[in-house]
Amino acid sequence: MLSLSVLISLTTSLVAATGLTDSSLKNYVNSLELDYSFNPVKEAYWTNLPHHRRTPFALSPDGSRAFLAYLDHSETDVHVQRVDPKTFAAVGSAVTVKGGKEAGGLVAHNDGFALLTNEALPSGTANAPAGNTPVPVLYRYTEGEQTFKTFLGGPGVHESDGLSASPDLNGDLVYSEKAGVYGAYFVVTDYSGWAEGHFGDSIQYVSTNGSLETLPESSAWGCSHNTGIAFEAADAAPFASICAEDQGDIWLNTNNRGMDLSGVKISNENTTNGAGGESMGGMSGSYSSLARFQGEDSYIFSWVSRGAIDLYENTWMGKGYVASYNRTNGRNVAIATFSDKQTMDGEQASSVVGAKVGDSQVKWLTTGTADCSNAHVATFDASNALVTWEQIDQPQCDNIAMGCQGEFSGSYFQLVNKGEKIGQPIRSIDTYVAGDMITMGDGRICWPYVNMTWRLDGTAGQYGSLPSSTTKQISFACMNLEGAANVSASAATSSSIVSTRIVASSEVRTKSATSALSLSVPSKAPASVSVLSSSTYILASTSSIKAVSSSFFPAVSVSSPATTFSTAIRASSTSYVAAKVALSGLPGATDDKDESCEIQYIYE
Ligand SMILES: *[C@@H]1O[C@H](CO)[C@@H](O)[C@H](O)[C@H]1NC(C)=O
Ligand SMILES: *[C@@H]1O[C@H](CO)[C@@H](O)[C@H](O)[C@H]1NC(C)=O
Ligand SMILES: *[C@@H]1O[C@H](CO)[C@@H](O)[C@H](O)[C@H]1NC(C)=O
Ligand SMILES: *[C@@H]1O[C@H](CO)[C@@H](O)[C@H](O)[C@H]1NC(C)=O
Ligand SMILES: *[C@@H]1O[C@H](CO)[C@@H](O)[C@H](O)[C@H]1NC(C)=O
Repeated sequence: MLSLSVLISLTTSLVAATGLTDSSLKNYVNSLELDYSFNPVKEAYWTNLPHHRRTPFALSPDGSRAFLAYLDHSETDVHVQRVDPKTFAAVGSAVTVKGGKEAGGLVAHNDGFALLTNEALPSGTANAPAGNTPVPVLYRYTEGEQTFKTFLGGPGVHESDGLSASPDLNGDLVYSEKAGVYGAYFVVTDYSGWAEGHFGDSIQYVSTNGSLETLPESSAWGCSHNTGIAFEAADAAPFASICAEDQGDIWLNTNNRGMDLSGVKISNENTTNGAGGESMGGMSGSYSSLARFQGEDSYIFSWVSRGAIDLYENTWMGKGYVASYNRTNGRNVAIATFSDKQTMDGEQASSVVGAKVGDSQVKWLTTGTADCSNAHVATFDASNALVTWEQIDQPQCDNIAMGCQGEFSGSYFQLVNKGEKIGQPIRSIDTYVAGDMITMGDGRICWPYVNMTWRLDGTAGQYGSLPSSTTKQISFACMNLEGAANVSASAATSSSIVSTRIVASSEVRTKSATSALSLSVPSKAPASVSVLSSSTYILASTSSIKAVSSSFFPAVSVSSPATTFSTAIRASSTSYVAAKVALSGLPGATDDKDESCEIQYIYE
């Protein structure tokens, strides 16, 4: 039996989230005045198309201090500004880390912060890389004072594997309180040793006293020419890691830290010239691509992809490895979930030579002809996540495996529960994501951006066609799950089926949704509803249900097209059950492929 408090909490949460609404998003425009000016645009590798220049953002464990890191507009010196997590205004003045060339990752502590940046070694340093090429470095500041500085590349670091530098610091910094170590995963280029002249990536761990740990979970060289890194803390090393390499794959490589078959293959990607479609944001990306569900061991990953067709053997890599062609012109948004840091839910991507389809296992959030970019994800709680991306509805994609250009059509924000879309995405034309998406103490997800006219229709930078700009103001936006659309509270007081409603998703056609209603909505206990394609239904969709009842409301996957969901509903149908089912190919629909809808049942 459920206790009274659990019942009350369930009743409240039966006002179940059915998707985000415009009122879920709140902007704090120009809330943060910077001490120094900042250039909000970074040119992409190869194409020079504009990306948001990343401003890492972090919140301390006690929720009292937020920090934002940004590169000085001169492109030397990284400033770290303390931010009030309630008002998003500045607290005190910025700490300047002199010589930093990129704000590459930030961890907030209750007494300060740690920053991942890259900088040239002091002149005269023996075995330094040529031409003052910057080397990755971790700084720790406590109450405004530097407490350590640890180089993560250059002389003295994994010398037997060759010395490395990081001219571009794509990567991320995370910290695990439980493990008591920082982890950094970043792109490197080696300037000595077997990989000299080649780009790859490296994972390094640093203890809280600043000593570089030479753990077996560290790596000197992992994925080749990696333009996409996702990294998230775990309770012990190795931390959860993903790379997008230049041979055609995205790997969950927590266990092997490389790009070999012992990793978990998330996706086939068409690649060229070192790029794989900027799957994790390309230049200035590689943050908030992988997020851990709050209080859980599970993770969610989001990326953009052109899909994969016509797999053929990658003879450079050898047997077992494939390369592919892209299915689409523009990129769509995909997600993958992991039950723990090394286990993906569902199947790995195909490695069958000759296969026509190389992306059948991918879970797409979008499937149109628009080009999607700048995908990021963060988690609200133990089961709900926010996935965001930017869109060009009419893209011009001149470069294989790179970004596209065209008129910016908006930023999108989609609620996802345990890997399933909830409702439709909301769109904003003047909210962007340009720094880490952080779960705040109150359960909101907040991130920094610059309020500006955002254009994707030309090239950026010194020789670009778009105007360049600098700013001294940062804005923040927050998404609130509690503000999401919900079923009416009055309906939740009657017995039997207290509320039944169909929530339109982007694939729904009104006509078939109506026929689905008459076909599938039972008057009392659920009747048998055929699930004609694979689907998942979730016996909880809000943070509060999950908070009291992760075991009481398990998520159940229905993988066989013939399965009916009624059996499982009955099995769990004690007191209160909120169920949500996504169906495709509904009975009575005119077109089995295209019709789908989501139905929410609430039982008392
Ligand atoms: C720093 O911490 C590590 C791990 O706890 C320990 O092995 C090492 O001896 C410490 N180094 C110093 C200089 O205290
Ligand atoms: C990527 O796809 C293009 C076609 O869009 C093709 O020409 C190219 O060979 C593919 N790359 C690989 C590595 O197969
Ligand atoms: C593959 O991608 C390239 C670059 O975006 C594009 O030109 C080409 O048309 C795409 N191929 C297909 C089959 O859409
Ligand atoms: C951003 O600034 C412009 C003026 O530059 C203003 O019109 C717009 O409303 C601002 N965006 C938001 C979300 O307030
Ligand atoms: C959700 O339900 C509550 C309680 O009935 C109501 O006050 C609130 O306005 C609803 N929110 C939305 C976005 O409809």
